[in-house]
Amino acid sequence: MSTQKISTQALHAGHDTNSTSGTRAVPIYQSSSYVFNDTEHAANLFSLKELGFIYTRLNNPTNDILQQRLAAIEGGVGAVVFASGTSAISTGLLTLLKAGDHIVASSSLYGGTFTLLSVTLPRLGITTTFVDASNPDNFKDAVQDNTRAFFVESLGNPKLDVLDLEAIAEHSKAAKVPFIVDNTVASPALLNPIKHGANLVIHSLTKYIGGQGNSLGGAIIDAGTFDWANGNYPEFTEPSAGYHGLVYSEALGAAAFTFKLILEGLRDFGGALSPFNAFQIIQGLETLPVRIKQHSANALELAEWLENKEEVAWVNYPGLESSKYNALAKKYLPKGQSGLVTFGLKGGFEAAKSVTDATKIFSLLANIGDTKSLIIHPASTTHQQLTDEQQESSGVTKDLIRLSVGLEDIEDLKADLEEAFASLK
Ligand SMILES: Cc1ncc(COP(=O)(O)O)c(C=O)c1O
Repeated sequence: MSTQKISTQALHAGHDTNSTSGTRAVPIYQSSSYVFNDTEHAANLFSLKELGFIYTRLNNPTNDILQQRLAAIEGGVGAVVFASGTSAISTGLLTLLKAGDHIVASSSLYGGTFTLLSVTLPRLGITTTFVDASNPDNFKDAVQDNTRAFFVESLGNPKLDVLDLEAIAEHSKAAKVPFIVDNTVASPALLNPIKHGANLVIHSLTKYIGGQGNSLGGAIIDAGTFDWANGNYPEFTEPSAGYHGLVYSEALGAAAFTFKLILEGLRDFGGALSPFNAFQIIQGLETLPVRIKQHSANALELAEWLENKEEVAWVNYPGLESSKYNALAKKYLPKGQSGLVTFGLKGGFEAAKSVTDATKIFSLLANIGDTKSLIIHPASTTHQQLTDEQQESSGVTKDLIRLSVGLEDIEDLKADLEEAFASLK
C-alpha cells in the first residue's frame, strides 16, 4: 500500500502518464467499446483469464483511473464508480443482498437512502431495522438471523451526527456482516472509515469530491477485509449462475466484492458513470484536500457566529464545543468537520422558509458540497415525504435550515444571512 499522503494521491494515484501518451491531465476516453486483438483475446477477457476493457458499462480507462485513485485514498483493494451516489448504494445493496435478507441501518440517513431502505427494498423482500445510531449497542440489539449488512453515514445528512464507527464495527464483526459506511459528507480528506473498521465505503461523488456542482457520480470502495466465505454469503462461495460458474471468493479473494460489483452489478443494473463525468470528478478530487479545509473553516466560523444571533434558537455543527457530537468529532474528524451546518430559528417553520427564500449568495437548491454556498429547508422539500416521526428520527425538525457552506468570503456569507434575518422583522 502507498505511503503517500492524500494531497499527493489525489493528484497522482492511478495515473501512469506513460500509458496515456504522456498526457499530464487524465484524458477522457469517450468510447463505448474496445477493439479485441482476436476472438481468443476476447474470450480471455470475458473469462477473466486476462484483465482488460470490454465495454464502458463495465469499465473505462478514465473511470478506471478514478477508481484506482479512490481506492488509494480510502485505503481499499478496489473501487467501482457509478452514475450517481444513489446508483452506488442501490447497486451495492442489490449485489450483496437477496429477498429474505435484512439490514440494520442508522435512522439518520440522506432522505433518498432512507426511502430506498424503508419503501423500495422491502418490495423486493429486503427489510431494514432503523436504529438510533448514537448508541452503538442498538445495532447489536437489532441483529436477526437474516441480517446481512450494517449501513450508516459517518456524518449523517442532515442530522450531522458523528458516529462511533469503531464501536459499531465491533458489532458488525460479531454479527459477521459487512459494515457499509456512506462517507459522502465527511469526504476521504477528513475521515477514512476503513481505518475504523468499515468493510465497504460509499461516496456520492456529486458532492465534495466533484466539488463544483456540475456532475453526478458515485463510488463504492472495497476494503477487502470482509470474509465472504463465513457461511452467510453463498453467492460468493458457490458457483455463480450469473457468471460462468465463477466462485468469487476462491477466484478473486480479497477483491471478490469489487469484481461482483462490476461483473454482475454494473452488467445487470447498468448504472455506469459517463467518462466525461469521471473526468470532471477527477478535476474536483485533485483539489479536495485544500477545498475541504476551507469549507470546514468557513462552516465553523459561521456556526459560531450563528450561535450568537438573537433570531437563532439552536445551531448544530460537530466542530462547535456546544455540539453533543464534539467529542466524537475530535476523535473521528480532527482535521475539520466539513461544510454542513444546521440551525433552527425562534420563529419556527415559517421563519425558516422566509430566511431560506431571502438569501442571495446562498442558493436555494437540493445539493451539498459545492464550492458555492447552498441553503435548503428540508422539512418542506427533501424530507417532505417522510412522516413527522421519520423526520424526527432523521434529525429534521420543522424549523431546521441546512447550509452547505461554500468557499466565498466568510464576511459576505454572514452579511447575506444577516440581511435574510432582517426580512423576518
Ligand atoms: C449522504 C448522501 N449519500 C448519497 C447521496 C445520493 O447521491 P447522488 O445524489 O449522487 O445520487 C446523497 C445525496 O444528497 C447524500 O447526501
